[in-house]
Amino acid sequence: MEKVKANKKLYIKTYGCQMNVYDSDNMRDLMATIGYQQTDEISEANMVIINTCHIREKATEKLYSDLGRVRKVKNKFEEKSDDKMIVAVAGCVSQAEGKEIFRRSQIVDIIVGPESYQTLPDLVGRILRGQGKQIDLDFKPNNKFDLLQESRSSSEISNFVSIQEGCDKFCTFCVVPYTRGAEFSRKVQDIYSEALKHAQNGTKEIYLLGQNVNAYHGLDENGESSNLAKLIDKISEIPEIERIRYTTSHPRDMDDELILCHGQNQKLMPFLHLPVQSGSNNILQKMNRKHTRQDYFKIIEKLRQKRPDIGLSSDFIVGFPGETDQDFEDTLDLIEKIKFTACYSFKYSSRPGTVAADAKIQVAEDIKSKRLKILQDLLNQQQIEFNQSFEGVEMPILFDKKGKEKSQIMGKSPWLQSVILEDFDEKYFGQTINVKIIKARPNSLIAKTI
Ligand code: SAH
Ligand code: SF4
Ligand code: F3S
Repeated sequence: MEKVKANKKLYIKTYGCQMNVYDSDNMRDLMATIGYQQTDEISEANMVIINTCHIREKATEKLYSDLGRVRKVKNKFEEKSDDKMIVAVAGCVSQAEGKEIFRRSQIVDIIVGPESYQTLPDLVGRILRGQGKQIDLDFKPNNKFDLLQESRSSSEISNFVSIQEGCDKFCTFCVVPYTRGAEFSRKVQDIYSEALKHAQNGTKEIYLLGQNVNAYHGLDENGESSNLAKLIDKISEIPEIERIRYTTSHPRDMDDELILCHGQNQKLMPFLHLPVQSGSNNILQKMNRKHTRQDYFKIIEKLRQKRPDIGLSSDFIVGFPGETDQDFEDTLDLIEKIKFTACYSFKYSSRPGTVAADAKIQVAEDIKSKRLKILQDLLNQQQIEFNQSFEGVEMPILFDKKGKEKSQIMGKSPWLQSVILEDFDEKYFGQTINVKIIKARPNSLIAKTI
């Protein structure tokens, strides 16, 4: 790896899922090895990275409007500095659009994808030597993790660890299999070492990440294929790690061992994000989800048997091509029967290169909007009811950030609710403390010490 002696500033803007947040942290650590320190002030940055998401239409448009703004800042920076501002585009839009980004925005110097950004320090070296614009979009997840192992240096209370990348499921609406490539699982030992390093730096919660995290099948120390349940048990052997979570899982890979793990492993938090997308079998089939609504009910029933207090969340898409009023009613019916705690919902957005984009019967925009509103009203109501059920209850909160007000400190409940405690005390950071919930808000809980 090229070592450039420098004392430079790096600004990163991140869109998309937690995988992108994890990748941005890695890019920060990688760039630190060649002397770039992160800044929140774009106007002083010698390098800007925009880490993009391609999942829905607006995400791509945001990149180009961001680049318009960066151009102005770059001009100002270069007027008053004898250095150049390097602009890099990373993430899923890079992978999907490739060189087109150079064409649409002349200020871009570097294009890297989500499975190739480990070469950034080399690419920056080439730019500095005047070798012109650089692009690297190769899929090489193995190499990515080997290189990152050396530079990773975070000390957050809650930390992401990517265990699995890519997706082989090919849902007909989704770009992820194209932008992140085929499924790849890291080795158990590598993941364990990364979690251990975090624990030694003060981390209390590990968030295992993957586009299809429960399809995880990395090799263990005997060279045998492991699974997510075994990995969770292994990580929970680290004494400092108090909480383990994982996302995003797929109903198809929700096996009995993992369900049992929810009942037996006390460090695995009682919360699961398990996207169902639709409650209609007709639509699930058109989406190529490879599960039915009955399969979903069955999984939830088993989970609740093992862990009765488990909180559930999901993603929903409304207005998928061909979705009828009846299909939509089936989705509402599923929501009413399951009762979710906090969900994400989206209008279907046609994505280039996906199967559903070619469907003849697209749902009209006004119908999508109407359905989304009805769906979100129902989900919000369920979320409020869930939050209200904790008023007057005591629960353990892991405190990890300052609140909006100086007097406040914030943390997370076992069910991933944001909890605000009024009596701020520095010593609460990184501690799990039993507090009493005195008020439920739609998106947070207010607590007091006991
Ligand atoms: N791997 C996860 C989802 C990753 S994408 C899974 O299998 O569920 C995150 C969410 O974005 C998806 O769950 C889906 O609800 C939404 N999404 C993906 N493609 C979309 C599209 N074309 N239009 C609208 N929403 C989409
Ligand atoms: Fe996309 Fe489906 Fe893969 Fe999830 S499982 S990442 S929705 S293709
Ligand atoms: Fe977006 Fe890529 Fe994540 S498309 S949702 S950043 S995997």
